[in-house]
Amino acid sequence: MLTYITLSNNGIKMPKTISAPLNYAGIDDETFIKEVAKELSFPIIAKDNFGSLGKEVYLIKNYDELVAFEKDHKFSAHLYQEFIESSKGHDFRIIVIDDKVVASMKRCNDNGDFRSNVAQGGHGELINLPESFKEAAEKAAKILNLDYCGVDLLDDEEGDPVLCEVNSNAFLQEIERITGKNIAGLYAKQIVDALK
Ligand SMILES: Nc1ncnc2c1ncn2[C@@H]1O[C@H](COP(=O)(O)OP(=O)(O)O)[C@@H](O)[C@H]1O
Ligand SMILES: [Mg+2]
Repeated sequence: MLTYITLSNNGIKMPKTISAPLNYAGIDDETFIKEVAKELSFPIIAKDNFGSLGKEVYLIKNYDELVAFEKDHKFSAHLYQEFIESSKGHDFRIIVIDDKVVASMKRCNDNGDFRSNVAQGGHGELINLPESFKEAAEKAAKILNLDYCGVDLLDDEEGDPVLCEVNSNAFLQEIERITGKNIAGLYAKQIVDALK
């Protein structure tokens, strides 16, 4: 949520996102959930605020599923988000070191899952990264003040970048395999140069 608030306030396009209120008392009031259903149209993405490898990201198809999800997750911090349907099953993973893109790949999942994570069956493909995607990734890394990060970008119906999330500890295996680049080495060099 903090990433969403910071980036969307600094001109980075992200899916419309609504933070769930913390629930300490086990209240089952549906007022908030009804607002979510009104603001976002189904299917709706839901995420635990802390999660990785696509494990805590869900696609909610209707109101009954939304109520069930809220019941299951009411005691943990979570959010609801507009589903960028044009990006179903694929996204763009971009590694930025020192505010510069050093590697990128398209991640595609052919097994029908909306999530493109390698851990969910996705695989990397080589692409020529459009300039607008490069600019969005570099701008996000700069705003968040990250010396190393993996930016996940979705593409909207016009093919423009929509930022999904920024990973401070993005895995390297698939992107090194696809691009043949020694990303760990580039990051090690950045650290040594910064120390000097
Ligand atoms: N709002 C969204 N619209 C469409 N696809 C999404 C959306 N949010 C996430 N996804 C898909 O789910 C994957 C995992 O979501 P992400 O927020 O990156 O969580 P994680 O930290 O688990 O990787 C993304 O790479 C993307 O393929
Ligand atoms: Mg991700």
